[in-house]
Amino acid sequence: MTTDRNQPDQRLFPADMQRLTITAGEYCLGRAPSVLDTFLGSCVGIALYDSASKVGGLLHVILPSGPPRKEEDNPTAYASRGIPYLVQALDKAGGDRRRLTATIAGGAHIRRPDGTGADLGIGLHNILASRAGLRDLGIPIIREEVGEDFGRHLELHLADGQVIVRSSRPFSGGLSDPKAPGTRIPPQQLTEAIDNLKSVSEVALRALEVARDPDCNFYQLERLILQDQVLAASILRLVNSAYYGPERRISTISKALAKLGLINFRRLVLKAVAHHLFARKLFTYSMEEGALFHHSLTCARLSELLLPAAPPQERAEAYLAGLFHDLGKVVFERCAGAAFPLIVDRVLSSHEPFHLVEREILGLDHAEAGKLLADLWGLPPIFGQAIALHHQPTSSRHWLKMVDVVHVANALSNMLGVGLASDSLANGLEPEALRRLHLDEKAMEDVLAEVPRALDQYA
Ligand SMILES: [Fe+2]
Ligand SMILES: [Fe+2]
Repeated sequence: MTTDRNQPDQRLFPADMQRLTITAGEYCLGRAPSVLDTFLGSCVGIALYDSASKVGGLLHVILPSGPPRKEEDNPTAYASRGIPYLVQALDKAGGDRRRLTATIAGGAHIRRPDGTGADLGIGLHNILASRAGLRDLGIPIIREEVGEDFGRHLELHLADGQVIVRSSRPFSGGLSDPKAPGTRIPPQQLTEAIDNLKSVSEVALRALEVARDPDCNFYQLERLILQDQVLAASILRLVNSAYYGPERRISTISKALAKLGLINFRRLVLKAVAHHLFARKLFTYSMEEGALFHHSLTCARLSELLLPAAPPQERAEAYLAGLFHDLGKVVFERCAGAAFPLIVDRVLSSHEPFHLVEREILGLDHAEAGKLLADLWGLPPIFGQAIALHHQPTSSRHWLKMVDVVHVANALSNMLGVGLASDSLANGLEPEALRRLHLDEKAMEDVLAEVPRALDQYA
């Protein structure tokens, strides 16, 4: 669905598709009765609709504008280029630009609820650029749901032009007393949840260890993976969907290994583990099916992108830390669900960061719970540190670059609206982490500009 062309491509027109979901940097067109939708953090979604022809389009811009070459490569990632691009596409698809009306949503800032933390201003710049782009084309904005510190889901119904904007801000259940004392997780319940999750990936962890050796025996590695049929099936499904069409299906682990090589194969094993753990809906964090998986993959990819000059080994480690940073959310889904209405009510009434309220009420936060599991898996301590501190990178006594990288990558994933959860934007971005990584607003914009290309390629 992404495009790197400068002329709108009419193959994107979903003639018989009922729902089309786009992600950061993409656009789509549709006609009644289709529904177009997207999730937004600091990005802005622009929904255009022509009520006479019932043709409409949706654009998800990441940045206000960029260098000419980057805008040419990915016009729909930028408000400056994406808006005229979408309007031109709608004209070709049977709409009439003189009849178009617009709704814009998103552009959240990423300060914490108490107003602290860094705010790069990207959300506000996206809002201003979107307004200006629409004004230049004479398209009236009939509704805006922008700014503030939470993500949104934007949905355009082409049957009647209705636009629904939902907030990712946690909703108060109204059933709990926010002043009630915490309900610490009984240690046995926590241990059981972690133990169950430990066994999920024993074979995968052994396989990853074996695959570290460049001279390892492919036959032995295949036999090991086949001990876990769920893992084996997942690897084959991922390899076939990520790399090849149905005409060139890969049907065995050994063929996958031969085709991908060890480095990409290790990555695929990791992705299979992540899919197994993260694909389900999380009631605790209001995350839809697949949301945590996509959030984790995006964070992993961004962690690599934040280290462009690092050796391959360091980038691979950053990928792994980014991939499993929210492991603790799965732990809490299994053992702390009953406490979440109280956590949400407390967050709303106290304006404290979500993870601090988790700690107050449960005795530990999801970052610390994730570290417990990572340690049980036998991951090296640096990964445990990056997971444990991904919401508070400055609390470590020694500076660990990986901790800052995962912290920033997580914030960027939320800004892109990937896998929004009830705690997404309200956990903040530490200015000190940006300073230590030498990241200013310009550098962050450069990383975001890489996103459409980087997310397209991931394996
Ligand atoms: Fe987190
Ligand atoms: Fe996260």
